[in-house]
Amino acid sequence: MPDAPAPADRRLAPVIRLAPAKLNLTLAVGGRRADGFHDLHSVMVTLGLADRLSLAPASGPADTLAVAGFDAGPTDQNLVLRAVAEVRSLLGRSVATPPLAMRLEKRIPVAAGLAGGSSDAAAAIDGSLEAWGADAALDAPSLDELRRHAATRVGSDVPFFLAGGAALVTGRGENVEALPPLRGRRPGLLLITPDAPLPTPAVFAAFDAAPAAQPRDPRSTRASSEHLAAEWRAGLSGDALVTRAGVLASANDLAEAADVVLPGLRALRRGLLRTTRKPVGLSGSGPTLWVLYASPSEAEAAVEVVRAAIDDGTIVAPGAGPPIVVATTIHLASTAPTAEAPQEGSA
Ligand code: C5P
Repeated sequence: MPDAPAPADRRLAPVIRLAPAKLNLTLAVGGRRADGFHDLHSVMVTLGLADRLSLAPASGPADTLAVAGFDAGPTDQNLVLRAVAEVRSLLGRSVATPPLAMRLEKRIPVAAGLAGGSSDAAAAIDGSLEAWGADAALDAPSLDELRRHAATRVGSDVPFFLAGGAALVTGRGENVEALPPLRGRRPGLLLITPDAPLPTPAVFAAFDAAPAAQPRDPRSTRASSEHLAAEWRAGLSGDALVTRAGVLASANDLAEAADVVLPGLRALRRGLLRTTRKPVGLSGSGPTLWVLYASPSEAEAAVEVVRAAIDDGTIVAPGAGPPIVVATTIHLASTAPTAEAPQEGSA
């Protein structure tokens, strides 16, 4: 009989994680808390559109990160590096944590309201634990606790991505109630991201300070969010979700604040509404706008229509260049695949 592989052998192959984008189907925002954050009530889903992270133990003196694809800003400030450092410090001496050589392929637009950076961080937390063999050395409850602890320290959106799928997210983002998968067919989704990054803190600051940035009806957003969560818990189909698109498109308390910080976003939204004849929502703090379709193929067909309308000036978008327009899906499978899934939205 051949010898069983030594435990360290499995660490030689890089660990691969897909880090999906998210969409806030609802986003109710409460007042500013003493810690500077806001209490949220948000139904969130992971999407087919995903970054790809690989991690492998290396012999160099420190963690390294190479980034390809969309420009993610200064690499030394990337949340992936912060997440790995956080996990290493939480593990202490319980497991050997040699430097990691990492590669990140950015396919999710950056500072776009799709939480790509937070998803990359969640993938780095989970992936580094596997690369270091901590998943074999620690029991499951300790690992879960460590993952959650690291995630909360790295960013408000990170805990959601540890499980992904669909969830009701409350508190600052740390309370994550998993929701069941949508029944029936998966809806398609069109994402339009202006070439104008919108930093989340700027949108929350406008929300706190600018009278014009106040949500038109915050109580109705919260009610819509609670109603959607209740329907989802009871078992919601993809088709039923699509029929609720009108309500969802107006259930984001940051929409007015995003319009204040990025003049031109409102005009883009109007142009999309005219062209698609469908409700247009804002994802998170923006500036990505979304349109729901009954199927992925309908969303893909809409990509061409919207791109043509941008080219001929029917749709005017803020930003230095034309917006990124992609079709993807609401993706409710586990978000910690060890194998590659087919990529969507990379058009
Ligand atoms: O936690 P994270 O660093 O991702 O948050 C980015 C910014 O978004 C915070 O600095 C804060 O301005 C704002 N935020 C908030 N309330 C939340 C989440 C984020 O005010 N629940």
